[in-house]
Amino acid sequence: MTTADPPAAVSAAELRRRLDVLPRFHLTDLPTPLHELPNLSRRLGGPRILMKRDDLTQSGLGGNKNRKFQFEVGAALAQGCDVLVWGGGVMQSNHARQCAAAARRAGLDAVLVLNEGPHGRDMQGNRLLLELLGADVRATGRDGMFGHEADLAAVVDELRRAGRRPFVVEYGPLTAVGYAECLLEIHEQCAALGVEAAHVYAASGGGTQAGLELGNRVLAAGCTIRGYSPLDVEGGRTAQQAALARASAELLGLPLTIEPGDIWNSSAFVGPAYAAATPEGMDAIRLVAETEGVFLEPVYTGKAFAGLLHDVRQGRLTADDTVVFVHTGGTPLLFAYARELSESPRP
Ligand SMILES: Cc1ncc(COP(=O)(O)O)c(C=O)c1O
Repeated sequence: MTTADPPAAVSAAELRRRLDVLPRFHLTDLPTPLHELPNLSRRLGGPRILMKRDDLTQSGLGGNKNRKFQFEVGAALAQGCDVLVWGGGVMQSNHARQCAAAARRAGLDAVLVLNEGPHGRDMQGNRLLLELLGADVRATGRDGMFGHEADLAAVVDELRRAGRRPFVVEYGPLTAVGYAECLLEIHEQCAALGVEAAHVYAASGGGTQAGLELGNRVLAAGCTIRGYSPLDVEGGRTAQQAALARASAELLGLPLTIEPGDIWNSSAFVGPAYAAATPEGMDAIRLVAETEGVFLEPVYTGKAFAGLLHDVRQGRLTADDTVVFVHTGGTPLLFAYARELSESPRP
């Protein structure tokens, strides 16, 4: 820590103690591994690259939302609920797949209210896994990422009338607290490697970055965080991320001052639309697979990694830097995008 760094609001042990107060259902062993990508660093002649393997969280083929669902399922069980209900996103949603898998692990049902979205009708990728999980999928018949509210309210009402006890998964503080813990793990794992302050990259337009920002500030970890949003919305994502970080801090009883302008989040690599495969994203997928045997995917992590590669090529990241890329999962999407990927050129 340099003298310019703000004092830590809490120690690592205190942050852990506060997280432990929240009801949590075991979905994965933590910490997730932090792996070196030496072949890729060599190929780029660039920074030391470490990958935080949140794709290896253990429930339902992994991914970032398992950190969230530990707490959502914990709360659902504490309230005596018997079905998780989520309305949001599209048929190929990673969030939906991890929701349904978490519900099954806990002996609960899952009802998912979903828009169609790209590859929504293909029995592949996440859509296929929802089928195997026996999730009750309710199609809104709409496209796009938003506008589920009325359908969701009707489903919750229907379940209550049928005598069920639904737990509605919301976009609240439980969305982000798990990523404060992820930052804590990164901080400790980097310290064990002798790395002081890493450049942290992640695909996020919401809770992942909100939680990382929270952890970084309360621990005064000194990381620089760059988030790459999977979608381009007017005004960007930072107002919502700052609000989520503040709500999570409040839940944990921690002081936090954060404004949208304090967060760096870019939609530069989204391409023409949410979930549209881009040449830069597919290049990144191929490069990481060919050098390290690790799979990214075209909707989130490939686009964020394209942002990281851009920063290396522009000289923003040099051989003296250490980068942590948070691999947030999404692996099943590779199969939904088999055609786009197999037709993309080798870099
Ligand atoms: C693989 C993957 N990465 C990143 C994200 C971004 O998460 P968030 O915007 O909630 O931080 C998602 C969201 O669904 C995802 O599925």
